[in-house]
Amino acid sequence: MTEPLNAERERPRLAASGPVRVRVPAKINLHLGVGPIRRDGYHELTTVYHAVSLYDEVSARRGDQLTLTMEGEGAGELPLDESNLVIRAATVLAKTAGVAAQARLHLRKQIPIAGGLAGGSADAAAALVACDALWGLGRSRDDLAEIAAEVGSDVPFLVLGGTALGTGRGETISPVLARPTAWHWVLAFATGGLSTPEVYRELDRQRDALLAPAPLGAPDDLMAALRQRDPGVLAAALGNDMQAAALALRPELGDVLDAGTDAGALAGMISGSGPTCLFLARDAAHASLLASTLAATPVCRSAVAVTGPVPGARVL
Ligand code: C5P
Repeated sequence: MTEPLNAERERPRLAASGPVRVRVPAKINLHLGVGPIRRDGYHELTTVYHAVSLYDEVSARRGDQLTLTMEGEGAGELPLDESNLVIRAATVLAKTAGVAAQARLHLRKQIPIAGGLAGGSADAAAALVACDALWGLGRSRDDLAEIAAEVGSDVPFLVLGGTALGTGRGETISPVLARPTAWHWVLAFATGGLSTPEVYRELDRQRDALLAPAPLGAPDDLMAALRQRDPGVLAAALGNDMQAAALALRPELGDVLDAGTDAGALAGMISGSGPTCLFLARDAAHASLLASTLAATPVCRSAVAVTGPVPGARVL
């Protein structure tokens, strides 16, 4: 079959010859409103995502097949086959673009697995951006975010980064108008992970038991706080509907939250579905003091100071 005259223009033209390295941040939720369960099994969400400076890295090289290797946080615990979100993302992108899924992918992880920081989704977002560059597809960020929604609810946000409102099951993203402020956070890591579906099930169980409805309010206070520069105001506007469920499954996380607030954090809460705990600090010096205090308490595996917002998955 002869190709149309304009096929050359549509074809990938700037495929990378060398390896492509992509850095991708973790996410926290400044507000995580969970509504009722939908017919497709997902929960309706109103969330405010915020990308923070804890990064994973995906590199992509030319290869005859699609393969994945990894190092760092959780190496040896994650399957590296087609059930891995990195491989899923590359496969979905190749299929959408009509190209062969061929790449040697390598993942360097710092974001804990099943930590409530969307680490797996971040890796998928990085794989989309890396393979887009390796294969010379030149997809726009919005196009990649649309493809990302097929891979997971949090993946579109991690393609875009910054601070953004997520609705639907979390995959519909619109950037939040905020003052260009760097907020200072501390992430306190726990030993072991929490399964997101299990935390959602526990939340549904708690709501059924209490006959409590699942209202989804707009995070107006938070939106207003993000237009100011006062961390005290932001602290009062943070919220997470999944917190009680995560605490029911891992009661010892209550001690971590107490340790952070005792150490002077402006606010402390569970990050996403947990078990990572998240604290807001006044400034960089306060964050680093909080992180070292928390890291020294027996209830935490380790703690790091991070800032946000930061951009989503980017080629280095
Ligand atoms: O979209 P993703 O694959 O990351 O979601 C993982 C799981 O979390 C889903 O299978 C579902 O059990 C739960 N989930 C949910 N409602 C959402 C997002 C995720 O119940 N909005």
